[in-house]
Amino acid sequence: MIGKFIVIEGLEGAGKSSVIRLIRKTLAAHNIESISTREPGGTPMAEAIRDCVKHDWEENVVVETELLLMYAARLQLLINTIKPALEKNVWVVGDRHDLSTQAYQGGGRGVSDDVLASLREMTLKNFNPDLTIYMDVEPEVGLKRARGRGELDRIEKEGMEFFKRTRKRYLDLAGNDPAIIMVDANQEIELVHKKVKNVLLRYLS
Ligand SMILES: Nc1ncnc2c1ncn2[C@@H]1O[C@H](COP(=O)(O)OP(=O)(O)OP(=O)(O)O)[C@@H](O)[C@H]1O
Ligand SMILES: [Mg+2]
Repeated sequence: MIGKFIVIEGLEGAGKSSVIRLIRKTLAAHNIESISTREPGGTPMAEAIRDCVKHDWEENVVVETELLLMYAARLQLLINTIKPALEKNVWVVGDRHDLSTQAYQGGGRGVSDDVLASLREMTLKNFNPDLTIYMDVEPEVGLKRARGRGELDRIEKEGMEFFKRTRKRYLDLAGNDPAIIMVDANQEIELVHKKVKNVLLRYLS
């Protein structure tokens, strides 16, 4: 791999989408070619899985079903898009990656670490982002921002306790991994962007 894989993580409304634009603009200013991806999604099949995951089904969506769909989408994206780009020295800026599954399905839904580890091993093997920026936002703040965008999907309709468990897992994981840089995303957007840009410039230097 020659290109780098930068992942932006955080709850809904953390501001991932706008930060990704900022990062790609900064990379371009350094003559670094990049693409962005989103998870679940990013290839035609993975986008179909995304629709499926977000759809508000009238049947019970089993936790393990959701989990398997997430890894199915991630593997399609990894093999068809992320790895080929990195091999061509194109950097990839990801809107979510595996940390989301650790936080949402692990922390939020209570899937065990053993199950998560075995699915990781089956799909990603030892593939990891080069840099992860975790945008920490209080669920109430993030969901309020997300709501301003329109209809909530199946996962966004979860109760506040679900998002609190998810955030707690994000914080635990970020605190234990030096490759994850945490940014306080509760602050106003200018401050958030300034912090993210500094993190990126430090990484590039
Ligand atoms: N720090 C901030 N302060 C105030 N508003 C913000 C801030 N960051 C983002 N927003 C606004 O909140 C809304 C949600 O932000 P954005 O779509 O970037 O979040 P996201 O993390 O990509 O969410 P999702 O995971 O749902 O895609 C947007 O309208 C955005 O302009
Ligand atoms: Mg977004």
